[in-house]
Amino acid sequence: MGMITARRIAPFFLVAGLAITAAACGSSSSDSASDTDLSADAAAGKTYYTEHCQGCHSVDGTSKAGPTFKGLSGSTVQLASGQSVTADDVYLTKSIEDPSADIVKGYQKIMESAIPAGSVSEQQAKQIVAYIDTLK
Ligand code: HEC
Repeated sequence: MGMITARRIAPFFLVAGLAITAAACGSSSSDSASDTDLSADAAAGKTYYTEHCQGCHSVDGTSKAGPTFKGLSGSTVQLASGQSVTADDVYLTKSIEDPSADIVKGYQKIMESAIPAGSVSEQQAKQIVAYIDTLK
């Protein structure tokens, strides 16, 4: 009985070991979440970001012409008006659909020149926000 169990377990460990090795290789080939880890909305938002927003917004904490998206979701944002707001999905959506509505303190009112109000559809804004939410 004991012998049979051991012989059955050995191949199991071999297979499990290979699976773990394969998973480790997969994750080390990319330093950020791969697209397959993102929801369909977030993946579409990432594509839109890469095409339209990347020039002014980083996702690695670097400040460009605009604030970074890293850690933005849920953070407290100081506005030029002196108010502060929580960057929840409502704020993020508004910032995308109407770029001049709230201006972040320390930044210029330039986003609208590239992304005029209304140029991003409701659906696209939802996808971008889903992507920004993954960058916490
Ligand atoms: C020409 C540069 C430029 C482009 C392109 C641009 N933005 Fe911006 N964006 C800014 C600047 C500058 C600010 C900060 C001033 C302000 O609030 O308008 C900003 C602010 C924001 C904010 C608020 C950030 C915060 O810290 O509260 C969001 C969200 C945002 N942009 C999303 C986007 C998205 C999504 C796109 C692409 C569809 C985009 N931006 C394209 C320049 C740009």
